[in-house]
Amino acid sequence: MESDDLFVNVNKHIDAADERLVQLRDFFFKEFSTKAEFFVKVPGRVNLIGEHVDYSGFPVCPMALSQNILLAVATSPNNDDIIHLKNMQSKYKSFKCSIDHIKIELPKPGTYPGWHNYFLCGVKGILDYIHKMGDYPRKGFLVAVSGNIPPAAGLSSSSALVCSAALTTAFLYDLPLNKTLLATLSASSEHYIGTQGGGMDQAIAFLAKKGCAQYIEFNPVRATPIQLPPDAVFVIANSLAEANKAATSDFNKRVVECRIATKLLAKFTDRPWQDIEKLGQLQSEVLDVELEEFEALIKKHLTKDVYTKDELMSIFHIHEKEFEEKMLTPNTKDEKEFKLKQRALHVIQEAIRVEHFRHVTDNADDDDEEDAIDQMSELMKRSHKSLRNLYECSHENLEELIKISKEFGVGARLTGAGWGGCIVALTDSITTCDRYIATLNECYYDLMPQAKHLEFDQICFATEPQNGAEIFIAEFS
Ligand code: GLA
Repeated sequence: MESDDLFVNVNKHIDAADERLVQLRDFFFKEFSTKAEFFVKVPGRVNLIGEHVDYSGFPVCPMALSQNILLAVATSPNNDDIIHLKNMQSKYKSFKCSIDHIKIELPKPGTYPGWHNYFLCGVKGILDYIHKMGDYPRKGFLVAVSGNIPPAAGLSSSSALVCSAALTTAFLYDLPLNKTLLATLSASSEHYIGTQGGGMDQAIAFLAKKGCAQYIEFNPVRATPIQLPPDAVFVIANSLAEANKAATSDFNKRVVECRIATKLLAKFTDRPWQDIEKLGQLQSEVLDVELEEFEALIKKHLTKDVYTKDELMSIFHIHEKEFEEKMLTPNTKDEKEFKLKQRALHVIQEAIRVEHFRHVTDNADDDDEEDAIDQMSELMKRSHKSLRNLYECSHENLEELIKISKEFGVGARLTGAGWGGCIVALTDSITTCDRYIATLNECYYDLMPQAKHLEFDQICFATEPQNGAEIFIAEFS
């Protein structure tokens, strides 16, 4: 069996053609007047199917992108306990703080968290873990960051930064570089920023493999490769509507609605609702029913379009304070209405689509590749429809891209959290892919003034599955 440990590639040969890495090395030296000791690379991701199901405990199917976060790192030459952070993009301001005084600032409503807060989440997650095992020596370090994952686009730029910080800290503090452990710690440490993501982004960041997507299960995290049909080409198109899930309460509201739906179903089926947090846990561990039976239970028990806070408190026999503590998050504590039926139905039907998608890819052989791509496309279309109608996390720009894709004849869906960001589409050959990209350019980007200032291949591109996180000591030629 393959090791779950991340291998440190010592003396990795880098040639001058790897411009980004060479520039990062030079930037590091210029800023810190010392050489970088090692480098860390963590990819962004695109989720093919299985959206908004990970925090309910159901599997997802993402793959890693070639866009990534690159770090150049050295231990602090003064042996101090300061973390120094510099970003190659000047719009991201430099930052420093002591290892003992990590303070993660939650964003004010409507604003984005400062970029360094994501890095601090990863550092804090690892330090808290080490701390539980005893005291540790304080080691400061110098970090220069180069990122080319489009921000606020649903391609996991923030999680890649969290994961890169976690990997750096784990390496510097001699923690075993176990990928599953790093993915799990990175997922929980991103919660420090206030959003309660489900762990998909961090899992694929560490467990991705070149050439295949991954079927990722949770609790515990594990990944099984998904072989994609050889002719399948996935395209990512950025709607250019920015969506940062930490800037609004939309994301956490969905997490909360899924949690309340779980507890309500548990109550209606006479299970201990206090202890059950996730729909997946209720379905597989507590009720032990198939996904389809669980869907029928949701339809039977969650009948109303809207549940109010007052009626839920009365059903659960709890007061406001307990309701807020057990069900809500700080940024959703004022919410008064919840769409439990719609959210739970999306989750369970999306979980069924994921199983179907996996089955199609597992069973696709050369003779029926076309049919496999058709079935995968159909599942992606239905996934999007559900995200738009039941989960209400689309955006008018995404809808326009989906409409163009439909008219062109490819299956497409929003990817990532939604409310903006990107779509992912499935084409059946390089030729179709090229024609599709040209159509998007003509029918969407050409009509958008802001697209004129952007490089087209950064906002609309074909993508192939890449490897997960890497750590290496570079030898430059
Ligand atoms: C964000 C979260 C993930 C997942 C997706 C939606 O990317 O970080 O955990 O919930 O949204 O599928």
